[in-house]
Amino acid sequence: MKVNPFVAELDKIHFYRGPRAIFKNLDIKIRKGCITAIMGPSGTGKTTLLHLLGGLLTASSGQMQVLGEDTAHLKDQGWLNLRKRMGMLFQSGALFNDLDVFDNVAFSLREHTVLPECVIRDIVKMKLEAVGLRGSEQLMPAELSGGMARRIALARAMSLDPEMMLYDEPFAGQDPISMGVLLKLIRTLNDSCGLTSVLVSHDVHEVMEIADEIFLISGGAVIGHGSPAEIRKDASALVKQFIAGEPDGPVAFRYPGAVSIEDDFLGDAHAQ
Ligand SMILES: Nc1ncnc2c1ncn2[C@@H]1O[C@H](COP(=O)(O)OP(=O)(O)OP(=O)(O)O)[C@@H](O)[C@H]1O
Ligand SMILES: [Mg+2]
Repeated sequence: MKVNPFVAELDKIHFYRGPRAIFKNLDIKIRKGCITAIMGPSGTGKTTLLHLLGGLLTASSGQMQVLGEDTAHLKDQGWLNLRKRMGMLFQSGALFNDLDVFDNVAFSLREHTVLPECVIRDIVKMKLEAVGLRGSEQLMPAELSGGMARRIALARAMSLDPEMMLYDEPFAGQDPISMGVLLKLIRTLNDSCGLTSVLVSHDVHEVMEIADEIFLISGGAVIGHGSPAEIRKDASALVKQFIAGEPDGPVAFRYPGAVSIEDDFLGDAHAQ
């Protein structure tokens, strides 16, 4: 495993939604230049974690360092500045439907910089080249395939030359070819642009292929951590269930607390 310094550290993070604890003592460290994957069952808090890292949500307690900043001291403007150093590809990944590809990718450059239009044009073309879609500038989002739209969203997320990329389920709904393209792109962009990437994904095999380090979270905390090879060898039943994609195990298939099927269907007749 690479031993690069850490660029983001979450230390004993607690986060609540109402009375419900989503994270209890969550410890995660992200290494510079690496692709760190966050995996875990649906509803476990992976998107929430990316939102905490991006300052869209605030932890109830615990400490967080991101790109050298202790986030406890950050106010609105501080978070805005920090967020400009991160590229986020969210789960929905939606483009602005009424803007063409060029204007979608140029959006943040126009919003957050005072660069002249001729420089913005060159940057947009460079970003589109990086995702293999230079030439698609005039297309509207409705004219793009799902895979192309994801790559345009990626070019947009990279427009301000971020130091860290946050990907939330970038492969969702993609066919195997688009998935392969995105996988390769995430690895290539990470390495060639000197990025650090945090990748949330359910796709165990794909993640195992490109991640340098994996954190498996469940029940509000980290239940497995290591390189893909170490995670494969992990003896914990929870980790094994997740990696093998088994429907039942320590993570139950059934909703907890449901009455027995006999009581639910046969009701009083069963009780007699
Ligand atoms: N806006 C919200 N208000 C209240 N609860 C929320 C909200 N957003 C998410 N949650 C709850 O927080 C928990 C974690 O949600 P989150 O979206 O982070 O899960 P996830 O691991 O990303 O799931 P998935 O793999 O399905 O995307 C879930 O149980 C969800 O019900
Ligand atoms: Mg999610």
